[in-house]
Amino acid sequence: MSQARGYSAVAMIFHWTIAVLVILNWRLAENAEHASREQAMAIFADHKAIGITILVLTLGRLAWRLTHKWPPLPSNYAGWEKMLARTTHVIFYILLVGLPLGGWLANSFNGREVEYFGLFTIPALPVGENEGLADSIYDVHSLGGQIIIYLVALHILGALKHTFIDKDGGIARMLPFGRVGKAQ
Ligand code: HEM
Ligand code: HEM
Repeated sequence: MSQARGYSAVAMIFHWTIAVLVILNWRLAENAEHASREQAMAIFADHKAIGITILVLTLGRLAWRLTHKWPPLPSNYAGWEKMLARTTHVIFYILLVGLPLGGWLANSFNGREVEYFGLFTIPALPVGENEGLADSIYDVHSLGGQIIIYLVALHILGALKHTFIDKDGGIARMLPFGRVGKAQ
């Protein structure tokens, strides 16, 4: 039985653009650890601008998701698989909004604006300055950044399982080609 390809082109473009940007932003933040102070400043300038881009794209993606038909998970998935997949997806959305918002908030508590690739300036949120609070938010932000990467690993394992072991969907569900649905 062949299943209709579930996700629309728009959903796929949102998914893959955000996925690439999240992994890039995580690598940038990690690389900054071993860089000189000037290099780290430059790296974090990019990290912040990319982070805000992820926030805007995620809000667009959620708006799209709420106003368009969205495919259900395949009916042959076990109950625990559906639950695990849904939980992972919900935590993804929470982090995709929470990480950049938290970063922006902490940056604002440090009295800083976000320079968007030299194109324009995103103002600090009107919260006043509080370096202690900024540090605490950054601690949670960094932890959230690690968590999202562990979740990406789990998410990829799920996609690989359904692609190569169960052969009932997997990565093809988020691609414009490949077989979706259970083989006969
Ligand atoms: C930072 C990286 C990633 C994030 C944040 C992410 C996030 C998500 C989210 C939130 C969904 C659920 C879509 C929805 O129902 O609204 C999803 C679906 C999906 N993702 Fe990812 N993803 C990432 C990377 C990847 C990678 C690397 C793969 C491939 C190995 C992948 C494969 C899939 C597939 C196949 C689905 C469809 C699940 C289904 O309905 O069967 N994703 N992803
Ligand atoms: C989805 C978007 C984002 C992701 C995935 C992300 C991820 C991360 C990760 C993983 C770290 C920790 C690196 C480490 O401890 O080794 C980090 C640190 C940091 N992020 Fe983000 N970030 C995002 C958005 C933002 C935004 C929008 C800003 C600011 C406007 C920001 C500012 C920072 C800063 C300044 C640090 C260093 C914190 C410190 O002093 O320890 N991030 N980010």
